[in-house]
Amino acid sequence: MPRVSAETAVGQVVVAIPQAARVFERLRIDYCCVGSSPLGEVCRARGLSPEAVLVMLESARSNTTDLRDWSRASLAELTDHIRERHHEFLRAELPRLSQLLARVVSTHGPQHPELEQLREVFTGFCGDLTEHMIKEERVLFPWLREIESPEPGSDSSCWGLDGLLACLSHDHDDVERALEVMRDLTGGHQAPADAGASFRSLLEGLAELERDMHAHVHLETNILFPLARALEAAGADTGCPCQREEATHACDARRDT
Ligand SMILES: [Fe+2]
Ligand SMILES: [Fe+2]
Repeated sequence: MPRVSAETAVGQVVVAIPQAARVFERLRIDYCCVGSSPLGEVCRARGLSPEAVLVMLESARSNTTDLRDWSRASLAELTDHIRERHHEFLRAELPRLSQLLARVVSTHGPQHPELEQLREVFTGFCGDLTEHMIKEERVLFPWLREIESPEPGSDSSCWGLDGLLACLSHDHDDVERALEVMRDLTGGHQAPADAGASFRSLLEGLAELERDMHAHVHLETNILFPLARALEAAGADTGCPCQREEATHACDARRDT
């Protein structure tokens, strides 16, 4: 079992101890946004004792046994899991929350002007995320499978993986920022005194969306992308379908705007 210390990067803590995600959610430590920062530094910035948090993490590791260690999975298993668990969740949840939000804005908008801003941020978030998932499913995931199990005769002579992963990481930063703004606009997903059932359900849905996105982005940023880079660096054949070039150009254009 890999050990963790105050010097371990927060994202790597969750790689070593998958149960740490729940501990970090409880402590409001965003292990995606500050994933490369050392645990001790992040704890101190939040007024927490790194030693106490380490005890909580080790306790979570020993008390829970039902979480899969994705750092040992193949690229095929990981991409299937991300698509089936996280992308399907988003495809079901984003339209539901969008409808709910429209209803809540029309009922509570006059008393809660921040809801209109929430709707704007949520709409942008949905559009960006939908586009992002398409890039992953149509370009990145098939490519990663090919890196892992190259087809005979595929061409490895074109651009590398780094450009695409940098673009997708940039998308992840935008997603995390939007989640933070939505959290702030809802006072940490807390229902106001006059909230009815729809309003409460919306806030619960947004909180669950945030939890799921953290787990999703963590899997990609801290496990999938490094594994793909390592396999490519080991000299696996990467293939070169022209759609990948289009995707990179689209990413570059987006990053420049
Ligand atoms: Fe994804
Ligand atoms: Fe992603």
